[in-house]
Amino acid sequence: MRTIAIVNQKGGCGKTTTTVNLAGCLAVAGSRVLVVDMDPQAHSTLALGFDPETIDENLYEVLCEPAGHEAATPLEEVILAWDERLHIAPSGIVLSALEQKLSADRAEDRMERLWRALESVAERYDYAIIDCPPNVGVLTFNALRAAREVIVPLETSDFAIHGVQKLLETIALLSDRIGHELAVRILPTLYDGRTRYARETLGEIRSLFGDLCFDTVVRSNIKLREAARRGRPIVSYARSANGAQDYGALAIELALTLSPDEIGEQVPDFAPGGPAREVVIQFRDLGATDVRLAGDFNGWVPDKDVRSLVQAEAGDRIWTKILTLPPGTYHYRYVVDGEWREDPVNPVSAPGPVGGRNSVLVVR
Ligand SMILES: Nc1ncnc2c1ncn2[C@@H]1O[C@H](COP(=O)(O)OP(=O)(O)O)[C@@H](O)[C@H]1O
Ligand SMILES: [Mg+2]
Repeated sequence: MRTIAIVNQKGGCGKTTTTVNLAGCLAVAGSRVLVVDMDPQAHSTLALGFDPETIDENLYEVLCEPAGHEAATPLEEVILAWDERLHIAPSGIVLSALEQKLSADRAEDRMERLWRALESVAERYDYAIIDCPPNVGVLTFNALRAAREVIVPLETSDFAIHGVQKLLETIALLSDRIGHELAVRILPTLYDGRTRYARETLGEIRSLFGDLCFDTVVRSNIKLREAARRGRPIVSYARSANGAQDYGALAIELALTLSPDEIGEQVPDFAPGGPAREVVIQFRDLGATDVRLAGDFNGWVPDKDVRSLVQAEAGDRIWTKILTLPPGTYHYRYVVDGEWREDPVNPVSAPGPVGGRNSVLVVR
């Protein structure tokens, strides 16, 4: 499991938006993703359509040591499923009490709560993406302790650069103290290329941070706000919107970079010959009668080596396609009543050799 904390002590720079939409794009491309909402404001929980007030137990019960001999709630018991591959460990306002609650504990111990909890589900997910509150307290420390990678969203329309040097120092100090290296990358967000100020700020960010800065820039896009309000990741709400394209590009950029663990072990990202695993993708359409799947994994022979299930749900027909694939990057299309089509819910695609576009699936 690659654990990535989304950190910036400044509010409104796109932490929650990045957490939910990066997670959504990774899940649509085939990864199993856990969103971890460490902000007591529970914006990620809300943005995935869950009401924190009606959730019985959240991360608070997992991270806090109860009185007496009771054990803390296991993380898996609070996890909610948005869909098959995208899950969330929800937050709630009580999480803000964790600071006082843990202050009696030994310093190292209270920083390690989330790390220990995530260890218990590490086999079940390819990614854990941790949304952090807009301050650097015990919750953010827990996130940094649990993560190996950090993404710092930086608003390009603001004096964002000033606070960030300080944040990078804090992160470096913390990794020294706990003897735990963190790979930090900067993500420019809320970019409006029409304003000269934003263009200049982006230039400054790029020259200041160089390779630490993602190539991807997240543009300002109102659809991102709408999707959050409807409790959906953008890729399942407005797949062709700029916001979906940008977070799709970020997901690819991230998936194509080695995680620090993989670099440490000198294992290439998509080791050919790694263990194969089951990959499930779905196509929904009421009008279609025959939907088959073809890709480079089956020599572009529709439905060869693919298990298929068809079911009806809420006025839709759903074709579920199950493949067993070793780690790698694959291109595919659906054949819908004889017509070759891109996957309508996968934002990641590449030009096909004979025109049109192929959808891209990454198996890790
Ligand atoms: N790229 C974007 N385009 C348009 N609105 C955005 C974008 N990123 C974030 N927002 C909106 O800006 C506000 C703050 O973003 P949010 O992700 O909640 O920041 P943070 O978690 O850092 O406080 C939210 O209303 C969100 O919907
Ligand atoms: Mg937030």
